[in-house]
Amino acid sequence: MKNVRHLIEPSDLTNDEILTLVNLGIEMEDNPKKYADLCKGKILGSLFFEPSTRTKFSFDSAMLRLGGSLMGFTDANTTSAKKGESLGDTIKVMGSYTDIIVMRHPKEGAPKLASEYSTIPVINGGDGGHQHPTQTLTDLITITKYKNTIENHTIAFCGDLKFGRTVHSLIKTLARFNTKKFYLISPKELRLPEFIIDKIKSKYDVEIEEITQLEDAMDKIDILYMTRIQKERFFNEEDYLKLKNSYILTNDKIKNAKDDMIIMHPLPRVNEISPEIDTNKRAIYFEQARLGVYVRMALIAKLLGEI
Ligand code: CP
Repeated sequence: MKNVRHLIEPSDLTNDEILTLVNLGIEMEDNPKKYADLCKGKILGSLFFEPSTRTKFSFDSAMLRLGGSLMGFTDANTTSAKKGESLGDTIKVMGSYTDIIVMRHPKEGAPKLASEYSTIPVINGGDGGHQHPTQTLTDLITITKYKNTIENHTIAFCGDLKFGRTVHSLIKTLARFNTKKFYLISPKELRLPEFIIDKIKSKYDVEIEEITQLEDAMDKIDILYMTRIQKERFFNEEDYLKLKNSYILTNDKIKNAKDDMIIMHPLPRVNEISPEIDTNKRAIYFEQARLGVYVRMALIAKLLGEI
């Protein structure tokens, strides 16, 4: 099989490649006309075995803004997967209809498996509670635009750190970029998996502090990354109901925050950020979702070898 680049997890990219994608995304946002026909004649296969708003439609938007086209599905029940076709066979066939695939799947490792059958680039659009590398790129372009650099920040992750794939991908990537300190704020049931903490500590010189109260870190952080309690990953409803209101960000809770602290969230949110925060100048999560289009444009163009 010819040598094809995939993006299954952030570690598939070097630090230099990540910075190149972020900077190219910013350049594409600033000069959209220059890139409007870059992927003309190319087709994005958009295979969503699990619901999505941002990842699905920001990839669609990215490909259309590059002059390309799309095909795919958001309900696998409308495909021959419903008749028992294997993922490998689906990917082999879709690889002959399209030029690049983005795929979301509830099973951890499914995009990796797909990449092993694929003759075209496969991008992981989120697999179970595992990884979400293009959300990481989205987060990094956002941090770069609002903080000028992705290095040397104190960052708090708050909420469901156990099941939240966006956190798993982002924290490991930020650790590669000289982060000053991570605060991990969660109920004990939803702590970041120990193996991720151990891996970061063994490789990088970054301080990590686990706490349960959001207010205890509020005046010290540059970036607050809120996350949803991931209802769909719980084994029973009772456990979810016990934890679902663990953190609800309000104006009162951020009264001691630094003036230039930014509040991020991969979205969707449920109730962990009160709508009253939306008009606070620190709230940038909708802008974060918008910027995801441009870094995904950069990624598509690079993986297709168009730039
Ligand atoms: N952030 C994110 O992955 O959102 P969607 O689930 O809507 O794609």
